[in-house]
Amino acid sequence: MSLHIVILAAGQGSRMKSDLPKVLHKVAGKPMLQHVVDTVSKLDASGINIIIGHGSEQVKTGIQGDINWCYQAEQLGTGHAVAQALPSIPDTGNVLILYGDVPLITESTLRGMIEKIDTEHVSLLTVELDNPKGYGRIIRNFEGNIKAIIEEKDASEEIRDIHEVNTGILALQAEHLHKYIPLLKNDNAQKEYYLTDLIEIANKDGKRIVASHPQYEQEVQGVNNRLQLCELECWYQGQLAENLMLSGVTLYDPNRIDIRGELICGKDVEIDINCVFLGKVSLGDRVKIGPNCVIQDASIGNDTEIKAHSVLEEVIVKESVSVGPFARLRPGTILENKSKVGNFVETKKAHVGEGSKINHLSYVGDAQLGKDVNVGAGTITCNYDGVNKFKTELDDGVFVGSNTSLVAPVKVGKNATIGAGSTVNKDVNAEQLAVARARQKNIDGWQRPTKK
Ligand code: UD1
Ligand code: CA
Repeated sequence: MSLHIVILAAGQGSRMKSDLPKVLHKVAGKPMLQHVVDTVSKLDASGINIIIGHGSEQVKTGIQGDINWCYQAEQLGTGHAVAQALPSIPDTGNVLILYGDVPLITESTLRGMIEKIDTEHVSLLTVELDNPKGYGRIIRNFEGNIKAIIEEKDASEEIRDIHEVNTGILALQAEHLHKYIPLLKNDNAQKEYYLTDLIEIANKDGKRIVASHPQYEQEVQGVNNRLQLCELECWYQGQLAENLMLSGVTLYDPNRIDIRGELICGKDVEIDINCVFLGKVSLGDRVKIGPNCVIQDASIGNDTEIKAHSVLEEVIVKESVSVGPFARLRPGTILENKSKVGNFVETKKAHVGEGSKINHLSYVGDAQLGKDVNVGAGTITCNYDGVNKFKTELDDGVFVGSNTSLVAPVKVGKNATIGAGSTVNKDVNAEQLAVARARQKNIDGWQRPTKK
């Protein structure tokens, strides 16, 4: 049976006190609404409809996916919001309704709910909370069957004592949705069209409401302010860390790692404290990451070590490479096997050949280094004339003496040597020695100035 998704995301989220629409606030580096979209995308739905209102243009541009956007001009309640999607939903199939500010719902919980729907059954996700404040309460009859949801603002003291609450997540047949939504009324404390009233209407129409429960409470936790956002972030990071450890990764402290994207690890990887992983990062077998590293969109090969305080972005680092401490690898850097980039070295669009070394205090940008090249301390590729970028090419076995400026475009041939302190602006042939600095002059009996 086809499945249609409806995600409510039109509310303002005023308690976030932000110019950014609430659903675009991030958990683990990804907008909350994008979490929901990505999760439902795994359900093979025929359509994803998102109801937007506040900041609708920003929301549209901030979210990726094949989405049918439905505009709710005035926020007249959750039921009214769903009504905006009705024209996009066919009469047959199943419908799953979710909230854009409940980001951590899981695929398995949703699948469990969908399985329970048929012509006689409506599926509702509920949870028992120690503190049910603010949520709609689940009303069951004496046989224990759900018959209604009462919003807190409409609830008596007795009903407020109920700890089973509505998560807001609901699944039912499209036919039933089309039938019940037009019957919603706004005669309640908030003068809103409550989606939750659908439960009582369905129940009175003879449908059974079947409850599902999430594996974790946090799956259904909504975010209304930055405190709750942070709570979810911390919990989610904890889950990610736990999964990593259970899959065989050593984390020196699971409370001090942040993964804002996808981190894939091989066997026997070790990650020291305070590392941040962004975008898509893959670490090969036995990779070691030292403390305080920031690694974004990178692939790191087997047996490589990234030492403390290194920052890597959009790079490929192959096997048995040593990076850092204090290295900065910028986009387009490729480090071949057994190469080495040491402390206070910055690279950008640099392809460093097998076994080559840039050990100290250098800037290597727009450069191609062959095998076994040795770049001395304080070497700078002068790749920019203020307008254009030029390339530096160092062939296999080149030795660059310390404190050398390589004024690009420039090529240095195989096994050539550059004397320390040179400013090289002409190509050097293979096997040559290039020395490009003022000749040393020694003056006898030189008198230093003296203080009066
Ligand atoms: C809703 C439920 C409540 C449940 C709680 C779970 C209703 C009436 N109440 O209450 O039973 O316990 O969620 O978190 O449904 N939205 C729109 N358009 C609107 C109104 C809301 O798109 O006109 C969106 C909001 O952006 C938000 C979601 O719907 O993503 C929920 O709305 P919100 O006002 O936060 O509902 P709650 O009062 O939390
Ligand atoms: Ca809410």
